[in-house]
Amino acid sequence: MPDPAFRRRPGRRCDDDEPAFAKRSRHRRSLIPLDALDAVDGLPEGDRWSTWDQSAAGERGPGPYPHWLVTELAAADTELGILKTGKEADVYLLRRGVPGGRSCLLAAKRYRDSGHRMFHRDSGYLEGRRVRASRDSRAMARRTEAGRAMIAVQWAGAEFAALSRLYQAGVPVPYPVQVLGTEVILEFIGEPDGTAAPRLADLRPAGRDLAALWDQLVAAMVTLARHGLAHGDMSAYNLLVHDGRLVLIDLPQAVDVIANPRGPEYLDRDAANAAAWFSARGLHGAGAAPADLPGLLRAEARLG
Ligand SMILES: Nc1ncnc2c1ncn2[C@@H]1O[C@H](COP(=O)(O)OP(=O)(O)OP(=O)(O)O)[C@@H](O)[C@H]1O
Ligand SMILES: [Mg+2]
Repeated sequence: MPDPAFRRRPGRRCDDDEPAFAKRSRHRRSLIPLDALDAVDGLPEGDRWSTWDQSAAGERGPGPYPHWLVTELAAADTELGILKTGKEADVYLLRRGVPGGRSCLLAAKRYRDSGHRMFHRDSGYLEGRRVRASRDSRAMARRTEAGRAMIAVQWAGAEFAALSRLYQAGVPVPYPVQVLGTEVILEFIGEPDGTAAPRLADLRPAGRDLAALWDQLVAAMVTLARHGLAHGDMSAYNLLVHDGRLVLIDLPQAVDVIANPRGPEYLDRDAANAAAWFSARGLHGAGAAPADLPGLLRAEARLG
């Protein structure tokens, strides 16, 4: 049963004019035999079958799958509530579990189409990126309704691809579970009771704690740069801290510092943002000096 502490998302309720079959099958995989409907009807309203098998192989996270991840096809997803409404996407808390069996918590980041976003970062970041079908890029450029929806799908795909690459490179990011259209499903960073880890911006670390977080951030950014990437939106709002461990989030705009003509600019800006935040809190006793970070990252990215 969903945790009563969390509110269900409105709009998931069934419309009374809808045929009964549609009501029952709305959030379910197709191909469920009619005579099996009674068995699947046991799902509480608002739940859906796990979408794991709807993502193609390339749209699932890198293997080997983490031991905690529920991949059983018999699993159902229960939406426990909204974690945060962002400027471009809303993040929901899901529990994926086999009825009566094991379960895991997941974060589902759902991109809104650009007509419903409050902030547009579509231009500079996309330079140097290829869009496969030119018909798609024309629709996106014209900002037609279909084009706007495609942009949301692109952002979801871009974030999933960046997370997959970084996870494999050993950068501390949430494990990217799967991508399906405009939804990216991620490892939930937080407590088993569904409390999300705080953002660095919500904390007041000092002394050794501050230095330890800085050292983790420098290591993560150096690894990113070594892979030719910059976060692109580095700030204390896009870093979670869980049990003293720093986790980088919000990566749809991860920038290829070589292919993107403004790559070096984004790399420097990320370094400056990170250095400014830690310097302002009186960082001392850390491995690298904040002022050295831009040079360190440029060297790792083999930029002059
Ligand atoms: N994997 C996760 N585990 C726990 N909480 C998460 C996770 N991913 C995102 N969140 C929460 O959701 C918030 C928004 O996520 P994110 O920054 O990726 O989206 P956004 O649309 O860019 O939001 P914003 O406009 O606030 O930057 C985060 O600040 C964090 O509180
Ligand atoms: Mg963010």
